[in-house]
Amino acid sequence: MKSNNFPIGIFDSGIGGTSIWREIKTLLPNENTIYLSDSRNAPYGEKSKQEIINLSIKNTEFLIKQNCKLIVVACNTATTNAIKILRKKYSIPFIGIEPAIKPAALKTKTNIIGILATKGTLNSKLFEKTSSTISRKITVKEKIGTGLVELIENGDIDTSKMKELLTSYLEPMLKKQVDCLVLGCTHYPYLIPVIREIVGDKIQIIDSGEAVARQTKTILEKKQLLNNTSKDGNHQFYINKDKKVLEMLISKYGKKIKINQLDF
Ligand code: DGL
Repeated sequence: MKSNNFPIGIFDSGIGGTSIWREIKTLLPNENTIYLSDSRNAPYGEKSKQEIINLSIKNTEFLIKQNCKLIVVACNTATTNAIKILRKKYSIPFIGIEPAIKPAALKTKTNIIGILATKGTLNSKLFEKTSSTISRKITVKEKIGTGLVELIENGDIDTSKMKELLTSYLEPMLKKQVDCLVLGCTHYPYLIPVIREIVGDKIQIIDSGEAVARQTKTILEKKQLLNNTSKDGNHQFYINKDKKVLEMLISKYGKKIKINQLDF
């Protein structure tokens, strides 16, 4: 088999990276994918940098063993803390995801943008570096989304508990004239309907999913690794915790998608 047919590997601390997987599947329907959900170790956002690096290495080695031709780190926390090290250690191409504060900075009219992300992402050097490149005129209101990843992993997405927590994070932003909200965690796009209920249409919600899919395509083209078949891609999922919520999130993309339980 030619390496063009090899799968794209995708990993996240849990099920949130499926918000990136679905963008990749839409843009590159002929690509095979393998998604690894390290749910047992979620949330990464509360761990030390070294722990995040170790888990990212463990996930990468699993995907390399499955013959992946490229790896998408579908986790802001893992990207901002570990991608530099992964790129140094392995020759395979990596695509990462970072909070979209640059696009938000171009869109804001009030010059005040909000970002909701994990502690690990907001405290990272890479995030600090990216933030320093946006115009000084723009104020960034940062908020750690404590507890959100855990609720999503439990399937508590559209519940009163979630709405209460999100309201406590978003109302102060509304009061401060934030007009663009950056979702800096791949779990959060699943919260968009609840966020809309809270903020109405006063705020633009920005996430990086589509941009990551486009970048994946660009790199595959550049490295001549695109899968040129006309068949629909084959998709495999691996998870090291209960698969119920993952099943619910991906079931609308095809009943045949296989979820493998993993002791990992
Ligand atoms: N989806 C991960 C991210 O994008 C969640 C991190 C976590 O597990 O805390 O940051």
